[in-house]
Amino acid sequence: MRFETHAKMKLLALLVMVVLSLLLSASHPTSAQDNAGPYAKRIACGSPTEKYSSNGYVWEKDQGYTGGSSAILAVHNPKAPQLNTLRYFQKSDGLENCYNITAPVGRYLIRLFFAFGEADNAGREPQFDVSIEGTLVYRMDTGWSEDPEDSYQDSLVFVDDGAATICFHSSDHGNPAVASIEILQILDDAYNRGVSRDRNIIMKTMKRVSAGARKSGFGSDFRADPWAGDRYWQTDSSLFLPGSRVNSISTTQNIGKFSVLPNLYPMDIFQSATITTDDMQSLSYTLPVDTNMRYSIWIYLAEISPFVVRPQDRVFDILVNKKKVFTGVDIVAQAPGAFNALILNVTVTVDVPSLALTFSPIFGPIAVNAFEIYQLVPTDATTVKTDLWAMQLLKQSLSLPASHGWNGDPCVPQGHTWFGVNCQFNATKNSWCIHGLYLDVQGVRGVLGEEIGSFSGIQVLNISHNTLQGSIPVSIGNLSSLVILDLSHNQLNGSVPETLGTLPNLKKLLLNDNQLSGEVPSTLGASALRGANLNFANNDELCGVGLRPCVSTSNRKSAALRVTAFVVVLVIALMAGCGFIIWKRRSNMARAQKLARGAPYAKARTTFVRDVQMARTVLTDHFRPVHRDPGPYVPSQSSTLLGSS
Ligand SMILES: *[C@@H]1O[C@H](CO)[C@@H](O)[C@H](O)[C@H]1NC(C)=O
Ligand SMILES: *[C@@H]1O[C@H](CO)[C@@H](O)[C@H](O)[C@H]1NC(C)=O
Ligand SMILES: *[C@@H]1O[C@H](CO)[C@@H](O)[C@H](O)[C@H]1NC(C)=O
Ligand SMILES: *[C@@H]1O[C@H](CO)[C@@H](O)[C@H](O)[C@H]1NC(C)=O
Ligand SMILES: *[C@@H]1O[C@H](CO)[C@@H](O)[C@H](O)[C@H]1NC(C)=O
Ligand SMILES: *[C@@H]1O[C@H](CO)[C@@H](O)[C@H](O)[C@H]1NC(C)=O
Repeated sequence: MRFETHAKMKLLALLVMVVLSLLLSASHPTSAQDNAGPYAKRIACGSPTEKYSSNGYVWEKDQGYTGGSSAILAVHNPKAPQLNTLRYFQKSDGLENCYNITAPVGRYLIRLFFAFGEADNAGREPQFDVSIEGTLVYRMDTGWSEDPEDSYQDSLVFVDDGAATICFHSSDHGNPAVASIEILQILDDAYNRGVSRDRNIIMKTMKRVSAGARKSGFGSDFRADPWAGDRYWQTDSSLFLPGSRVNSISTTQNIGKFSVLPNLYPMDIFQSATITTDDMQSLSYTLPVDTNMRYSIWIYLAEISPFVVRPQDRVFDILVNKKKVFTGVDIVAQAPGAFNALILNVTVTVDVPSLALTFSPIFGPIAVNAFEIYQLVPTDATTVKTDLWAMQLLKQSLSLPASHGWNGDPCVPQGHTWFGVNCQFNATKNSWCIHGLYLDVQGVRGVLGEEIGSFSGIQVLNISHNTLQGSIPVSIGNLSSLVILDLSHNQLNGSVPETLGTLPNLKKLLLNDNQLSGEVPSTLGASALRGANLNFANNDELCGVGLRPCVSTSNRKSAALRVTAFVVVLVIALMAGCGFIIWKRRSNMARAQKLARGAPYAKARTTFVRDVQMARTVLTDHFRPVHRDPGPYVPSQSSTLLGSS
């Protein structure tokens, strides 16, 4: 019994622990980076510390920028009172400056708050351009700061390269400045207009209005889903002139179908409406726009009036610049029913500098809950990845002064290409290629890296009159489209790469006034024959084609070769000679021995030798004292023989 109770208690304790841990894990999501939530990044530009807003958002301290300085914000920002700094980019920072902010592949609402002040712009409105992901989106032209609402700008953008790149392009009218950047993820297929290829479009917000709302606010203020991108909804109360025959109504009743994936909206925008007070009066919103651009218009409707409950009670047309885009809109019939959302969208091309959205009554007064107007900005083609990569590496190895900028994409937006860079559009690749690089007389120092061989279609490379050091990269031989290569008046050393001679289109190769050495590759002789203009002058240690002949070295070389060959031949000949003599002597001796062993002739010779000895003896005997006995014979024949030999 005791044992059983103990086991039961153990089991119970275990169960309680499991349940508790489950509860705990449910109430504390693992981290802010939880994959379930949208990716959001808020940056307080120019701020050295993090900032916090009343709704709990964290504004990270300034990060991801390429240059610039920070200054105190001169204007009070009612939309983000916690922000009090900005970043601005002076001429010495270069013409192009960017924020490069890490963001996973996806679609984002990118919101910028533009401001300027005394410290950064002497209190005068600067003019500049802003590009997002290489596409020019904002032109901050004269007067942009007049309407404080216009200082907040957002766009819906696809980011597919791991980072949102936002660049500020100076137009030499004051310093570009920015106070905050927000990157808020939304669903990829939100705002589906029923067409494909939407990924090549940036939707730039022209107007986002919550009609009849008591005040403007962010999606978060309007209790929106976090995935709805925290859009800023402006009330239309300030858009009407005093005396306009309009009223606003609102409800607290829930609205059905207000947010249907992937299009998420705050319910609040449907819970208020602007209504006309005269049955026959139309309601119009007009805004200035760029001509010959396409605009996507989204209209949010819900019948919230207690007096309109049946179809046909309220019917109206919707027109854009007097052209009907929706005919006989009847919310109760189409939603269907009251307190249900009806969402309409239409894409139009506007060829005049204003866009008028008009609600024209057929039956009953007009009621509008909310609308958005987006400009459809086609994304620019970007620079070929290899060229971009090569330019970035080149920027590092050439230690270009900051004033050259060289940030963002080298070729786009057009009109803001990098200093010294000439681009050409390649339709096959649907990309821009670096066509020419003109960095002559720019105080460039450093070493040319092998990355220079990666340019896909470069034709002109002029980095003359600088302080380039080290050797000429061999990879230049890979630039098959190269026509002009001018690296003259630098401090390049080492040899001229042989690969230069293989460039099929090279017309001008200027390497004069460097410290190159060795022999000009003979392959370049062929280029010269093709009519290419080559200049290798004033490289003290260089010789060959078009220069003094490489006498000293090559002759010395061949002389040394000849001497070596002579010595080798001599040694071989000597050895062969010696070998022959030894062999000859050996074979002679062998033959002599063979003969001595059996042949009569040999015996005779032996006898002869003895005869000689004897003869000698005989001869010497002449000088001997007479008393010595001369021996048994005196062969007079031998002496004759000796005398004849
Ligand atoms: C931008 O950021 C991404 C991701 O952090 C990085 O891979 C890329 O090299 C950066 N680009 C530049 C130009 O700094
Ligand atoms: C927008 O309108 C197009 C064309 O009428 C339609 O195909 C598409 O589904 C609409 N989008 C939404 C989200 O209603
Ligand atoms: C464009 O790119 C293609 C493919 O790489 C290449 O063959 C062609 O020569 C390029 N065109 C120009 C004008 O550079
Ligand atoms: C390269 O630039 C220098 C200096 O500006 C200029 O004198 C020279 O003609 C250029 N080279 C070519 C081949 O155009
Ligand atoms: C030149 O191009 C070839 C083929 O693309 C490549 O294999 C080689 O590594 C390149 N040479 C240099 C020096 O970059
Ligand atoms: C070339 O010059 C660099 C320094 O500028 C030096 O380190 C290198 O050894 C030189 N190379 C040759 C081949 O003279």
